[in-house]
Amino acid sequence: METVWTQQGPREEWSNRRTLLGLGLISVLLLSLLIAFSVLLFYTFYTCGPGPCEHPVCLELVASYLTTRNASALPCIDFFSFVCGNLSSGWTNDSRSVLQVLKEKNQNRLRRILEASVPWSPGSAEEKTVRFYKACMDTEAIDASGAEPLTQVIEELGGWNITGNWTLPDFNHTLKLLMSQYGSFPFFKAYLRPQSRPPHMPVIQIVQPEFQIPFRPDQKNYLEILRAYLSYLKQLGTFLGGDQMVLLEHVSVSISISSNLLAAKSLDQRKREGKLFQETTIAQLQEVAPSIDWLSCLRAIFSPMTLNSSQSVMVDDLEYIRGMSQVIGQITRSYLQSHMILGLVSTLIPALDSNFQNAQRNLRQRLQELAGQPPSAFNIPRWKKCIEETGTFFEPTLGAMFVQETFSHGSRDAATQLFSEIQNALSRHLIRLPWMDEGSQREVQVKLSQIKVEMGASEKILKPDPVKQDYHNIKFGPSFLQTFLSCSRSLRERTMRSFLGPPHSHSWKVPPWEVNAYYSMSDNVVVFPAGLLQPPLFYPDYPSAVNFGAAGSMMAHELMHIINQYLVPGGCPACDIPTLHGELLCLQQHYESLSLPAGSTFNSSHTLLENAADTGALVIAMQAYRKWQQKHTGETILPRLGLSPYQLFYQSYAQVMCGSPKLQNTQDLHSPPILRVHGPLSNTPTFARYFNCPRGTPMNPGNHCQLW
Ligand SMILES: *[C@@H]1O[C@H](CO)[C@@H](O)[C@H](O)[C@H]1NC(C)=O
Ligand SMILES: *[C@@H]1O[C@H](CO)[C@@H](O)[C@H](O)[C@H]1NC(C)=O
Ligand SMILES: *[C@@H]1O[C@H](CO)[C@@H](O)[C@H](O)[C@H]1NC(C)=O
Ligand SMILES: *[C@@H]1O[C@H](CO)[C@@H](O)[C@H](O)[C@H]1NC(C)=O
Ligand SMILES: *[C@@H]1O[C@H](CO)[C@@H](O)[C@H](O)[C@H]1NC(C)=O
Ligand SMILES: *[C@@H]1O[C@H](CO)[C@@H](O)[C@H](O)[C@H]1NC(C)=O
Ligand SMILES: *[C@@H]1O[C@H](CO)[C@@H](O)[C@H](O)[C@H]1NC(C)=O
Ligand SMILES: *[C@@H]1O[C@H](CO)[C@@H](O)[C@H](O)[C@H]1NC(C)=O
Repeated sequence: METVWTQQGPREEWSNRRTLLGLGLISVLLLSLLIAFSVLLFYTFYTCGPGPCEHPVCLELVASYLTTRNASALPCIDFFSFVCGNLSSGWTNDSRSVLQVLKEKNQNRLRRILEASVPWSPGSAEEKTVRFYKACMDTEAIDASGAEPLTQVIEELGGWNITGNWTLPDFNHTLKLLMSQYGSFPFFKAYLRPQSRPPHMPVIQIVQPEFQIPFRPDQKNYLEILRAYLSYLKQLGTFLGGDQMVLLEHVSVSISISSNLLAAKSLDQRKREGKLFQETTIAQLQEVAPSIDWLSCLRAIFSPMTLNSSQSVMVDDLEYIRGMSQVIGQITRSYLQSHMILGLVSTLIPALDSNFQNAQRNLRQRLQELAGQPPSAFNIPRWKKCIEETGTFFEPTLGAMFVQETFSHGSRDAATQLFSEIQNALSRHLIRLPWMDEGSQREVQVKLSQIKVEMGASEKILKPDPVKQDYHNIKFGPSFLQTFLSCSRSLRERTMRSFLGPPHSHSWKVPPWEVNAYYSMSDNVVVFPAGLLQPPLFYPDYPSAVNFGAAGSMMAHELMHIINQYLVPGGCPACDIPTLHGELLCLQQHYESLSLPAGSTFNSSHTLLENAADTGALVIAMQAYRKWQQKHTGETILPRLGLSPYQLFYQSYAQVMCGSPKLQNTQDLHSPPILRVHGPLSNTPTFARYFNCPRGTPMNPGNHCQLW
């Protein structure tokens, strides 16, 4: 026990001891007596003290801390390097962030779950989930059927001129089938979206379709891009046995249809890229865009919803819809049919044989080259794609299997306990905010006490609902394509049922195996997926310092978003505005004063709210940990690191942020990782105290912003 503590002592303690050695023998003897007495007292009062955690998950965590840290960096000068230096130094190619690594681990967990030989009872939801994954992985069978299953689908749609057997089907009929039965939206996309406010009534949204190619003549290498796309479409047609001359003609027309459609986007739409919606009715749409039979198309897509022509719909760009109708009106029907079928083939590629997959991969690679972007990983292994498809079609079941495997009741209870410690700490801290008036403090406290927390997974996954996992209408085989289509129709039906059923409260935006937490302001719900509450962020057997520092500060960060609305201009009229503005300005200047690695940029006013949340979260998590320490004994530490519990708290806070500091997305509202560590830590006197940072060192600049 004693040895552990000497090893754990901070540097300062070591030097103190060395001076003590110079004292006389008597003093040493006296001192030893004193120490012996204190040790005795220590044993009497705290039988366990902070002993090392020898649990395998702890040892694994120690190993990962030791490999990511740079022990020669000084914590008071550059804590980020001290914790993450060996990762971000560039000597290793693996500069992925801790969360990216965790995401990958979760994919591997899903793979193990799906590939385990468990005798699921035939016809059960789990059996169907596993069966779909296996069918997706059976590339031999998929390649053996070749293009035949797709040819059948094309015949069901009335055929096309490219392979001859063609019955000139009605345009509106084909379009309706494509959108309602095959999930392919060649001219516009229509979907239901729950309104953001409860009770989340569904709204019909109509947006432009996704274009595989950004056809813009002013683009760099435009002609090469067209050529690459032309050769890709020709390949698809060739796999289906198309005649080369007819193919070339139809493919060229298809490309010109796409580029004419793109040109139809209204100008200001191109600028704001589909953020605002305009309300209209189906009857008005029919006037604006007469080439489409709107009522019958939308009825097919949203069956069994009852729609009439006065139904209101939200359209993101009416100019596009008008232009699209004109384009359709000018094109011969046989070309329209070919265009629609080529679009369908692209949509179905995940379910087609390797010829199709390779063609699509080559196209993407080529486009990336032409755009001058660095080659990214296109060779995504098959199992990852299959896990993604399985997750799409069987999310409730796969989610429940994941939770069962990775998030025990013990984990859930411990995480819930941790969350309530954080929640209480924030509630206690609110009344100490000098700039916030009492009324607003009470408002936040009420919100905080009524917040609904979904820990690990949504209720519907934790308490499986047979309706949500009803896959009776899924037919397997004979080909994987047919299985895929059947799953996609079943998913559509389930989605429609859930929209038409009783109004639902909150819908999860992330599956339980994902790694992002979020707070939904309109529902006052905070969500922490099971995929996130895993080592290295959280484990019930970890020292509490680790759980509070990593998972706890992340929970606190989400809760801080409740207060965001009070920080924005005009958000809190009753607050002490001059003080609030002063502190926000202080925080902004504080972040601007921090040094960044060469070549990286950031905008401190763009990231101000997230910086405020980071800074507040660290304060709250530390207060919650202190309070917890006062109430509990039996805290452990991690062996071999030489960190006291409070130091360990900060180490684990920072470790979660490790990642390449250079890859900063300009849209990201968060600061780059190094600032997410240095910003909050150097604003916290507690950090300087526990690491003995002299005043004036970068991690203890002396003045602190008092926002929190
Ligand atoms: C840095 O990490 C590598 C493995 O990723 C490890 O072999 C090496 O010892 C580490 N360096 C230090 C100083 O810990
Ligand atoms: C570790 O930190 C020291 C001191 O800051 C620095 O000189 C060294 O390059 C760092 N090592 C790595 C691998 O980044
Ligand atoms: C690191 O990445 C580069 C380019 O991506 C590659 O050429 C190199 O072999 C990689 N090094 C290691 C050690 O994996
Ligand atoms: C099929 O295409 C060829 C050439 O593109 C054309 O001559 C023929 O009329 C088309 N057939 C039909 C039924 O549209
Ligand atoms: C043409 O399509 C019909 C169904 O639309 C099918 O019955 C017939 O076998 C096909 N003929 C050829 C030669 O592919
Ligand atoms: C689709 O149906 C609408 C409404 O019946 C009709 O006006 C339009 O001409 C049809 N479109 C085509 C291309 O046949
Ligand atoms: C159309 O549907 C709405 C409800 O969606 C209904 O209130 C209205 O009476 C219907 N109009 C006609 C003409 O049926
Ligand atoms: C920084 O972000 C703010 C708010 O997002 C924006 O108004 C400002 O133009 C940005 N400044 C720079 C230099 O990009």
